[in-house]
Parts: sequence; C-alpha cells; structure tokens
Amino acid sequence: MSRFKESTNMKTIRERLGTKLFLANLVVILIGVVILAITIQITVPAAFNRHMGMMSQSMGNGMGQGQGQSAGRTLFENFRASMFESLGYAVMASVFAALLVSWFLSRRIVAPIRNLTNATQHIAEGHYDQRVEVNGADEIAQLAARFNQMATQLEQVESMRRQLIGDVTHELRTPLTSIKGYMEGLVDGVLPSTPETFNQIHLEAGRLSRLVDDLQELSRVESKAYSLDIRSFAVSNLVQTTIKRLLPQATAKRINLHSSLPADLPPLQADEDRVTQVLVNLVANAIQYTPEGGDVTVTAARHANEVHISVADTGVGIPAEHLANLFTRFYRVDKSRSRNAGGGSGIGLTIAKHLVEAHGGRIWAESKGDGLGSTFTFSLKIAR
Ligand SMILES: Nc1ncnc2c1ncn2[C@@H]1O[C@H](COP(=O)(O)OP(=O)(O)OP(=O)(O)O)[C@@H](O)[C@H]1O
Ligand SMILES: [Mg+2]
Repeated sequence: MSRFKESTNMKTIRERLGTKLFLANLVVILIGVVILAITIQITVPAAFNRHMGMMSQSMGNGMGQGQGQSAGRTLFENFRASMFESLGYAVMASVFAALLVSWFLSRRIVAPIRNLTNATQHIAEGHYDQRVEVNGADEIAQLAARFNQMATQLEQVESMRRQLIGDVTHELRTPLTSIKGYMEGLVDGVLPSTPETFNQIHLEAGRLSRLVDDLQELSRVESKAYSLDIRSFAVSNLVQTTIKRLLPQATAKRINLHSSLPADLPPLQADEDRVTQVLVNLVANAIQYTPEGGDVTVTAARHANEVHISVADTGVGIPAEHLANLFTRFYRVDKSRSRNAGGGSGIGLTIAKHLVEAHGGRIWAESKGDGLGSTFTFSLKIAR
C-alpha cells in the first residue's frame, strides 16, 4: 500500500512540471542553507580565535584603570566582528553553490524546450523527418510526444501530396499525349481527316474529362467534404436502382445482370445515394471486367447486425497478390487491359472504400485467380 503510494507520488513528480520547478527551487534553498551552515561551522572557530587573540594582545599591552569596564564591550564587538566575518564567507559560499545548482537545474529543464524550438524551426523549413527525444512524462515530455505525432502526420500528408501530384500528372499525360499525337498527325497530313480520327480524339477528350470528374469526386471524399444523409431504406430498392441504371451497359455487352436477395432482409441505416454510388461502381466494374456472355450477380445476406452486399462476376478475375491493393487510388491490375476495356483510371474502388468506411463499414475483394471471376463485398449496419 505504502509502496503504491510512494510510486504514485514519484509519478506525480515526474508528470508535473510545476512540481519539478518547485522541487528545484527547494533544492537550491536547501543547498544554500547547508553550505551556509557548514561554512559557519568551519570559519567561526578560526575567526573567533583570531579576534580573541587580537583582543587579549591589546588588553595585555596596557590594561589600566577604567579599561576593565570596556573589556565586556570589546569582547562583544570582537564576537560580532568574528561572526560577521564568518557569515560573509558563508554567504559567499552558499550564493555560489546556489547559483551553480540553479544554473544546472534550469539547463536541464530548459534543454527540452530548446530542442523543441529547434525542431519546430526545422519543420517550418520543410524538413518533416525532424523528431525530438521524449524524456520522462512531464508536460514538456507530453508536448514533445505530441510534436512528434504532429511531425509524423505532416510527413504523411506531404508524401501523399507528392504522390498525388505525381500520379495525377502521369494520368493526365497519357490522354493529352494521345490527343496531341492525333492533332499533329492531322496537321502533318499523316492521319486522314476522317470521322474515325475525330472520334478517337473525342474519345480521348472524354477520358480526360471523366478523369477530371473522378479526381474531383475523389478529392471530395478524401477530404470528407460531404455530409451523409443517414436514413433507413430497403436493400431491394438499392439493388433495383443500381440494376436499372446499368442494365443498358450489361445488355450492350450481352452480360446477364441479375440479383438474388433473401425476402427477410432488414432495412439498412445509411445514406442511400452514397451507397448506390458504391454499388454502381462495383457493378460497373464487374460489367467492365467480364467478357461478353458472362454473368454478374448481386446478392445480400444478414450477418449479426450487418448486411453484406456482394457483386460476383464470371470475368477476368484478380490474381491474389493484387487483392489488397485494389482500393489504393490509381491502382490497376493490368494498366493496358483497363485502358483498352474503356479507360479505367483506378479511382472507382478508392471512392467506394471511402464511402463505405464513412458509414463505419468494410469493403473487400475475393477472387480465385486469373480468369476465374471476382466477388466484391461491402458491409453496412442494419437499421435499429
Ligand atoms: N470485377 C472486377 N474484376 C476484375 N478486376 C477488377 C474488378 N473490379 C476492379 N478490378 C481491378 O481493380 C482495378 C481498380 O478498379 P477501379 O474501379 O478502382 O478502377 P478502374 O475501374 O480501373 O477505373 P475507374 O476509376 O474508372 O473505375 C481495376 O483497374 C481492375 O484492374
Ligand atoms: Mg472502376
């Protein structure tokens, strides 16, 4: 019990800068007093002896009438003089010791603040890898720990920003180079000015504009610059809306798009438009990455207080090593394949993941491998 109390007290001392400062001052005072006492102890006898010696000398030299009464006064003055002398030494010694200890203690207390100031300067100059040492657990140590946390976050944001600029530049360059190539071909007369050529240019421009739209949407969901309109709605509504929207695309590719839902599914508690956006992305992918004549099936099942909605296809499939990366922006399993198959830019699943996670749900992909179809599933909470 007492050991516990002791350790709690030690903890309080280590965690409070105020207590530390108070103790530092106390140490300085105590050291001053101790030095004062020791110096007095050492110097008083010598000073006293010297003054008494001087007094007896002067008294021996001419002790006459009337001098006896002043002897008491001289004794007192000599005592006072010897006291002042030794006190003078003692004060000098204790002031010196107190100064030395204060200097040492304040350096110890100020050093981490100075480190923090230097580190802040480094960060302000753009060196985001700067970190400070965290010693102890007091307010300054907590500040240092928070500072390191902030520096890590700044470093991440900075690296994401660089990566994003790099990725966007790369993505924009491809259709732009293509448009430029067609135009140069037309100007030089290498390419015929047929509707087919203009159609190709139009296609590339369309890809560019779709990419810009996707980037805008991605930036909105990544910065959470939207609000969720959470209501309860039926899964069957969601699936019907999605199928209705994508049926023309599926029919054009002779893909059999259908759904199979259990009758007793509870309603969902989510933003219907956003969830529709997720399901549309998944079904559009399934149609895009499934060859003609394939099947795309939307299913749903209840798992505890969640509903899992899945989109399964009989398409090109995904090799296992890519499954974890699909939700990273601009990630494509086969860049040339997705370009030829309609120019995907690898943003759709990233947006879907952000939207699902904003609802507190999860999204994942499964596939038995190349050519063996894929299944994308996301989970959402049911309405209470
Ligand atoms: N159903 C699927 N079958 C096979 N591969 C898929 C499927 N869905 C997604 N993928 C792979 O995951 C990648 C990322 O998909 P995502 O939807 O994020 O981008 P995208 O379809 O290429 O472009 P967009 O941003 O226009 O949707 C795709 O490029 C594709 O390689
Ligand atoms: Mg897609």
